Amino acid sequence: MDKISIPPEWVFSPQPMYVIGTKNEDGTPNFCIITWLGFSFDNGPHIMMTVGGTKLTKTNILREKKFSANMITEDNLWLADYFGNTNGEDGKKDAVAYSYKQGELVDVPVLNECHWAYECEVTRVIELNGAHLFLAAIRNIQIDKDYSDMDMKKIDLTKIRPAIYAPYNYFSIGGKLGEMGEWKKHLADMQNSGVVV
Ligand SMILES: Cc1cc2nc3c(=O)[nH]c(=O)nc-3n(C[C@H](O)[C@H](O)[C@H](O)COP(=O)(O)O)c2cc1C
Repeated sequence: MDKISIPPEWVFSPQPMYVIGTKNEDGTPNFCIITWLGFSFDNGPHIMMTVGGTKLTKTNILREKKFSANMITEDNLWLADYFGNTNGEDGKKDAVAYSYKQGELVDVPVLNECHWAYECEVTRVIELNGAHLFLAAIRNIQIDKDYSDMDMKKIDLTKIRPAIYAPYNYFSIGGKLGEMGEWKKHLADMQNSGVVV
């Protein structure tokens, strides 16, 4: 295929989204959205998260060195959108109803409306040019009781229904494409149907 070049400012990757829960100085919770978030593994699973500018979430994490990352799914997207479009410094985010519990292993607020949440402890902070990059160890994962029978080695994303961010828009995932390692079968099917030569 022919390609064209575009400037680095147009960087884009389909991003899952997380509501980040932190503890305010007075012990109350604060939540916001972070999409610049990825996963890493070094002697246990970690989250790598970039928080830009000045925001209450960042102040809280720099002080407490811990946070929860609550996966945003289709059913809690608009609650998350509220958290991501309001500043904690402007006052408590209590214009809409939601509830939370403290983490099981880490003392952070975990959002009840989310089905899958990570309790994290920050192990490294890298101060960048205005943004901060947090590396955090995942100490506990809380999942919806309804997922108890889910095969954790073959998670069915269509059941979890994560919301995906592409600049300024939210999307749902489509269906399953196949299983890892099935390339021979699928490429042969595509060749037979003339999709690839
Ligand atoms: C869809 C969406 C994605 C966002 N992703 C990020 C992000 O990756 N990093 C970041 O620093 N802020 C991100 N934000 C912005 C924060 O969520 C926003 O500044 C929020 O108001 C901060 O809340 P706080 O002041 O309570 O910390 C995002 C906002 C939205 C709506």
